[in-house]
Amino acid sequence: MIRIGMLGFGTVGRSVYDLLQAHTESFPDMQIVSVAVRQITEQRMALYPTVQFTTNPDTIVTASDIDVVIEVMGGQTETYRYLRRALHSGKHVITANKDLIATYGETLQKIASAHQLTLLYGASVAGGIPILDALTNLLPGDETMQVGGIINGTSNFILTQMSDAAMNYDDALALAQRMGIAEANPVNDVAGFDARYKLAILAKTAFGANVVTTQIPTQGIQEINATLLDDAKRLGYVIKPLAVARRTGQELAMTVGPHLVPAAHLLGKIDNVQNAVQVKTRNIQDLVFTGPGAGAKPTASAVLSDLAIVHDIVCGRQLVHEKPSLQQPVIIGTAAG
Ligand code: HSE
Repeated sequence: MIRIGMLGFGTVGRSVYDLLQAHTESFPDMQIVSVAVRQITEQRMALYPTVQFTTNPDTIVTASDIDVVIEVMGGQTETYRYLRRALHSGKHVITANKDLIATYGETLQKIASAHQLTLLYGASVAGGIPILDALTNLLPGDETMQVGGIINGTSNFILTQMSDAAMNYDDALALAQRMGIAEANPVNDVAGFDARYKLAILAKTAFGANVVTTQIPTQGIQEINATLLDDAKRLGYVIKPLAVARRTGQELAMTVGPHLVPAAHLLGKIDNVQNAVQVKTRNIQDLVFTGPGAGAKPTASAVLSDLAIVHDIVCGRQLVHEKPSLQQPVIIGTAAG
């Protein structure tokens, strides 16, 4: 049995737990045994009777009977200390924390490698879009030249609502917060900080580049108003929050901010909370991955996909993904639409 300790039990954490429970056939020998939370309530203990709750993450990251730590509590400096401790205590680490990986990923990776452990963070960029996997595994022998796109759902949602529903900036932001997609501090979304963390992780994965996030030219969407959006529309454009890294030889051009995109371009049609990551390689000019960049289930499913990798490493064998098989399907007609 692979024993998992989880740091944080918010919407993503609970969704990880629920998905794991719902797919015990795919993860038969993995179990979340302890969870660090801010507050232990009777209701929580009643709902999750097999879980040991603690308010002290240290007890999980240093426990001798935990094999994997999943971090979904957010935060940077303190969380970094917990994850360091987890790795030094011999635990594999999975995290959804982009701020932390963009800032401390390189150091954590070195500690993980020194201990022959795995550090995975597929859920940190673009939620349900398996873009880090794709960049890592795609196109052997090819070379990525450009990566980026719309990687902050909140700012895309705000600009879409302002442009298409004539909603004002404050109302659109408040709605994004109520929908649970905005960061705890939404300034991170609208000022472009969330996107630049994600862009730094994309650049690391695509180009092996260690980027200091504060060096990425970054502009927020706060200055965008109805007049600018209307002017863009009249000219056949939309304003989209883009984050792009382009390689030229040994140099990397990077930018985060609102850009004019032709309305007819695929990126121009990515609205609301959807994300889209465009990849250009030497051999393939235009790969575009679109999907839900945030939300509990997409993020949790990215965490589980990392968990499957850790399982295979720990057990030395591949998880058997029992896919429902359609041996003799009845074809019912067109699949269009
Ligand atoms: N606040 C982020 C967004 C959530 O709006 O995209 C996912 O990282």
